[in-house]
Order: sequence, then C-alpha cells, then structure tokens
Amino acid sequence: MALPLPNLMTRWMGRHILYRETTPSTNLLAEEAAKQDAPDGLLVLTDNQTAGRGRLNHKWFSPAGSNLTFSLLLRPSLPPGVIPQLSLLAALSLVESLQHLPLCIKWPNDVWDKQGRKIAGILSTMSCTGITVDYAIVGIGINVNLTQEELPSELQNTASSLRILTGLPLCKTQILRGFLKQFEMDYECWQHHATLSPFLDRWKKNDYLCGKKLTVEQGNTILDGYADGITPQGNLLLKQPDGSCLQATAGDAHIWRRTSF
Ligand code: BTN
Repeated sequence: MALPLPNLMTRWMGRHILYRETTPSTNLLAEEAAKQDAPDGLLVLTDNQTAGRGRLNHKWFSPAGSNLTFSLLLRPSLPPGVIPQLSLLAALSLVESLQHLPLCIKWPNDVWDKQGRKIAGILSTMSCTGITVDYAIVGIGINVNLTQEELPSELQNTASSLRILTGLPLCKTQILRGFLKQFEMDYECWQHHATLSPFLDRWKKNDYLCGKKLTVEQGNTILDGYADGITPQGNLLLKQPDGSCLQATAGDAHIWRRTSF
C-alpha cells in the first residue's frame, strides 16, 4: 500500500500514519503512540498483524497481506460514558462507505454479508483520567482479499471476505480511503451531538438484525425479543410480545433459526 495514502479526501483523519510491515496488534501500537502524544486522527496500519485482538477476548484472524487491519487514535472531547458508541458509528460508516456491496451491520459493531457471514469487526478501547477521556482507539479488521481456502475450518461457515463476496480482488487503499472520508464526516457530527440520534434512520436501513428474534447473552443475563433498532446510546432494543421493549447494553446477539416464539 502506498503511503501516505494517495488522494486521501479527509481533512485530519488518517493524515498522520504510523505504518509497520508487521506488528502484534495495531490497537496496541496505537495505544503506545497515544501515550507519546501522537495526534488526533493518527492512522496505525500494518500488513501483518500477528496477535490481533477481537471482542470478548477472541483472537482476530488475518493472514499477512490479504486484509485491512488498522486502528485510529481519536481524542474526543466527550465524557467516557458515550465513547462505546464510537464502535457502532464506525460500523455504520464502514457499511455505508461500501454501499455498492450487499453488506449490513450486526449489532453492536460487526459488518456481515446478507448471508450472515462476518466480513469486518471492530474493537474499541479508551483511556480516561477521572472523567476526562485521554484517547480512544478504534481498531478495525476488514476481510478484503482473504480467500475461502485461507479461512481456518472453524471460520469456514461464519466468516467471509469482500473478495469471496464479489469474486474479485479489491483495492485495499481505495476501501480505506472511502471509509476514512465517511467516518471523518460521521465522527464530527457525532462529536457535536454526543449521541447516535442523528444516525438512527441510517442504522435501521443497514441493520441485519431488525425484526429477527434474538437471544442476547449479556454477562450472566439472557434477554430475548425481536430486534427493533438501537437507542441513541447504542443499546439494542428488544421488542416483547406485550409491545414493551428491553434494552441490551452489550453482549452477543444470537438469531433464532426457528420461527415460533
Ligand atoms: C471483533 O469482531 O471481535 C473485533 C475485531 C477487531 C480486529 C481489529 S484488526 C485491527 C485492530 N487491531 C487489533 O488487534 N484488533 C483490531
């Protein structure tokens, strides 16, 4: 990938780049850079992530060279409580930056194809001093040119890539450029409002789960219901048979394959 990114259409996001051919995790590298006063909007990028981290302590699989693995260092002037919304926002920006492809968002922050296979994942972290956010890291892994043969057996039925989806190898630089442009715009709007309210309609249009019957594992609690979009805080709304709604604040959402409630 040519660096700095040619024809970048952002004002500040991704204008500073920290690139390593190989690194354990771009999230870790971004954290180190943040502690050394690296600037807002720093893009940390690698071609070979050897110990990629996923949500819920999972590993992130990405063979060298095939995919996009990067993290953004952000310094939002907002309270810590709203920072988890950033992952949902990034998922929305990513899906919309690839709107020519049949993709959707799976709450809270996965990008899936329409067959329910995972194409991209997001892992955000933050560091605070008291009630001040020092920085947030948004780490994104996008399966771009991964082939079916490269997928380990345990991911064969649950993961996919843009290449598998389209049948064509795609340009990683172009995808990254498109995402950064969309995300910079959305991030500025989000910073201004400090909620996801301005994005709820767009979320609904891209929501894989909407209308589906779900079970959400939230720590030791299990919540059931029909997905009905998200709240401005990013909680998943679960409609109950009596018309009321429960809210899931975090966790893994599983779709019921049977039709009866
Ligand atoms: C998930 O779906 O579990 C989140 C996966 C996040 C993976 C990305 S790849 C770039 C960044 N660095 C990491 O170690 N993780 C994130």
